[in-house]
Amino acid sequence: MTLEAIKYQRGHLDILDQLLLPFKSQYVSINDTESAWIAIKKMQVRGAPAIAIVGCLSLAVELLNQDFDCVDEVSSYVSSKLEYLVSARPTAVNMKEAADRYSNLVKELALSKTEMVESIKQKMIDEFEQMFIDDVSTNKSLSDFGCEAILDITEQKPAKVLTHCNTGSLATAGYGTALGVIRKLHERNTLEHAYCTETRPYNQGARLTAYELVFEKIPSTLICDSMVSMVMKTKNITAVVVGADRVVQNGDTANKIGTYQIAIAAKYHNIPFFVACPSTTFDPNMKTGEEIIIEERPANEMSSIKGVPIAAEGINCYNPAFDVTPAELITGGIITEFGVFKPESIYSVISSEKNQ
Ligand code: MRU
Repeated sequence: MTLEAIKYQRGHLDILDQLLLPFKSQYVSINDTESAWIAIKKMQVRGAPAIAIVGCLSLAVELLNQDFDCVDEVSSYVSSKLEYLVSARPTAVNMKEAADRYSNLVKELALSKTEMVESIKQKMIDEFEQMFIDDVSTNKSLSDFGCEAILDITEQKPAKVLTHCNTGSLATAGYGTALGVIRKLHERNTLEHAYCTETRPYNQGARLTAYELVFEKIPSTLICDSMVSMVMKTKNITAVVVGADRVVQNGDTANKIGTYQIAIAAKYHNIPFFVACPSTTFDPNMKTGEEIIIEERPANEMSSIKGVPIAAEGINCYNPAFDVTPAELITGGIITEFGVFKPESIYSVISSEKNQ
C-alpha cells in the first residue's frame, strides 16, 4: 500500500487533508482553482511540488466543463487562473514555474491558428495530468542519484541520515525528494537510521515525516529541532538531506525555517549537507537568496497547537515559514533528476538540461 496524498481521475481531484494528519486520514474534494487556492493557503496541501501539482490539476478539473467562445479566451483564462494560484503562497517557486511554462504553452497554441478551443482545452488538461505522472519518475531518479552520493561517503556501508520538514509522498505526487533519498537507501538495505526533526512551529516533521517513516517501516527517530547539534555530535550522522522551495542562480536555497541553522551545525561537525529537489524548484530569474520573498505565517500557528495555546497570551510572535541557506553551506551538493551538482554549477547545468 502506498500513501496517496493526491487522488486524481479526469474531472475529480481529492487531497488528503494534511492538517488532520497523523490522527485522521480524510480527503477533501477540490472542484476548482478557488478551492485549491484555499487548500494551499491553509496548508491542507503543502510542499513545493504538491502545491504546483494540486494547483494545476484543479485547473484541469475546472477546464473540463468550461465553455469558451474563442481561443484567445481560453488562453487568457488559463494564464490568469495560473497566476491566481501562484498568489496563494509566495516562497515555493514550483507553482510559478508551472504558471510561466503553461501560460507560454497556451499562448503558443492560441497563436498557432491551427488549434480550436476544444483541442487547446484538451491539450492543457493532458499537460497538467502529465505533470502529475512525471513528478513520481523525477523523484525516483533524483533519489537514485542521492542514494549513490551518500553511499559514496560511506563506501557502500549503511548510512545515518538526518532530514528536516516533510519532503515525502505527502509533499509530492509520490515517493518524495529528500525523503525519497531516505526511502531509496532503505529499499537497498543501506539505511542504518533516519532522524527527522519535529520542524517547529508547524511540526511537518513530527506530524507528516514521522507518519510516513512509520508507515513505510523505515528505522527512524524523531528529534526536537533543538537537538540537531547534539545528535550530530553523538550519533555519527553520515549526511543531512533536506528539500527546497526555491534554488536560485548562485545555489542559495530557501527551505523550511530551521534549515539554515541545521546547515551551519552540519558544517561545524563536518557532515555533508545535501539539498534534494526537482529541476522545477530552480529559479533562474533570481541571482541570490537575498531576492527570495519569505512567507510569514499567522502567529497562532506558532503560539498554539490545534487551538490549544502554548505561549503566554499577549506575547509578540515572529513566524517566518522559510529561511535561506547560503550556497557555501550546501557542502554535499544539490541532488536533482539530472545528477548531483555543486551549488555554484547548478545554474549552468539546469539551464543546459532545460534547453535540450
Ligand atoms: O511550509 P511547507 O510545509 O509547504 O514547507 C515545505 C518545505 O519546506 C519542503 O522542504 C519543500 O517544499 C520541499 S517538499 C518536496
